[in-house]
Amino acid sequence: MNILIIGSGGREHALAWKMAQSKKTDRLFIAPGNAGTATVGTNIPVKVNDFKGLKNTVLENGVDLVLVGPEVPLVEGIRDFFLGDAKLKRVPLIGPAGNAAMLEGSKDFAKMFMQKYDIPTADFRTFIDYSIHEGLQYLEQLTPPFVLKADGLAAGKGVLILDNLEDARKELTNMLKGKFGNASKKVIVEEFLRGIELSVFALTDGKGYVILPEAKDYKRIGEKDTGLNTGGMGAVSPVPFADKIFMKKVEERIVAPTVRGLQKEKLDYNGFIFFGLMNCNGDPYVVEYNVRMGDPEAEVVIPRIKTDLVDLLTATAEKKLDTMSIETDERTVSTLMLVSGGYPGPYEKGKEIFNTQKVKGSLIFHAGTRMENGKLLTDGGRVLALSSFGKNMKEALAKSYRNAEIIHFDKKYYRRDIGFDLE
Ligand code: AMP
Ligand code: GLY
Repeated sequence: MNILIIGSGGREHALAWKMAQSKKTDRLFIAPGNAGTATVGTNIPVKVNDFKGLKNTVLENGVDLVLVGPEVPLVEGIRDFFLGDAKLKRVPLIGPAGNAAMLEGSKDFAKMFMQKYDIPTADFRTFIDYSIHEGLQYLEQLTPPFVLKADGLAAGKGVLILDNLEDARKELTNMLKGKFGNASKKVIVEEFLRGIELSVFALTDGKGYVILPEAKDYKRIGEKDTGLNTGGMGAVSPVPFADKIFMKKVEERIVAPTVRGLQKEKLDYNGFIFFGLMNCNGDPYVVEYNVRMGDPEAEVVIPRIKTDLVDLLTATAEKKLDTMSIETDERTVSTLMLVSGGYPGPYEKGKEIFNTQKVKGSLIFHAGTRMENGKLLTDGGRVLALSSFGKNMKEALAKSYRNAEIIHFDKKYYRRDIGFDLE
């Protein structure tokens, strides 16, 4: 079959790399893709939210299955667009409908959903401009640190964690006055959860589900989790503390009730669910839902899946996931993100990348790259992810670090302490 993957990051390269290995795949297209996806399929220069352009791509290339990588087209209703189009509705698309994607698109919606279905999460209240005074009062009842979240999508920047009341009061006011535009017209104030985070993934067809390998990502730019938040600087899978007992709690308290809740609410969900969790003394709490795979988590989770991904996605489209099980590689996979100097602040693009051909023992998943006149160039903040297998985390990481030294581009930066809190 012919497959189209929508997106252009390391996650999409990992998905494309895996799907290119399937015997079921005839032609693989990635829109818009990057220099890495071009090595396993054909890039189509259409943006992820150009629905008309994507429609033409599907029809011109006889695409039989579409997989949506990032959240933006999902929240903007790409599934609804496909189902509402006479020619596209026969083409299965993996990704939830717009109203179901609100689990990621609106934190208030996600919190209300969790409250309704008794899914463990931090206590919270939501405020809008005319309830600002109640919001300021509510802050006084809480103990620091204070967690403030913009309701809408804010490119990973909409969560503020503040140590003192004065700052929290100021920021709540700023957010409600439009600090993050429309995204912070509603603000969630919630209890601070103490613990260690991890990411759990399920693939669901709306009734059945399979749980994929879990992962831990490292979001901060600086070592020991300091400095600004990024899209993710590295990841490991499996996560040592996510043992059988913990994962059983995750399934019983979180994954199963979420899928049941989606059914009860008649939300058309078909695709990946990403549970951002906090392990609080052995009990899992949901920090956030995302309606897609994680990035860079995909760069460690996908290589650990032995089952044919095209079979899994076909079963998802046909609502037959309850007949599937998934086989995983026991080994550890770590990934290390090489980023542009300055990221997540301003950075330069277009730097030539050298020595990728000399890398041994790691998979290279391209995150922000392009080819120009035969030269591989940086094209984003996150540039390349180096994913390596090992019998344990240390062994896997050692390979990624060795290769990180070999690859060169001007102002290359990476963290040297991925996994530091897992030893
Ligand atoms: P979110 O976008 O909701 O995942 O929040 C971004 C990051 O803020 C999370 O990955 C956590 O590190 C942190 N965070 C969010 N909510 C809480 C909370 N209630 N308690 C502690 N940390 C939190
Ligand atoms: N690595 C976190 C995310 O994909 O949102």
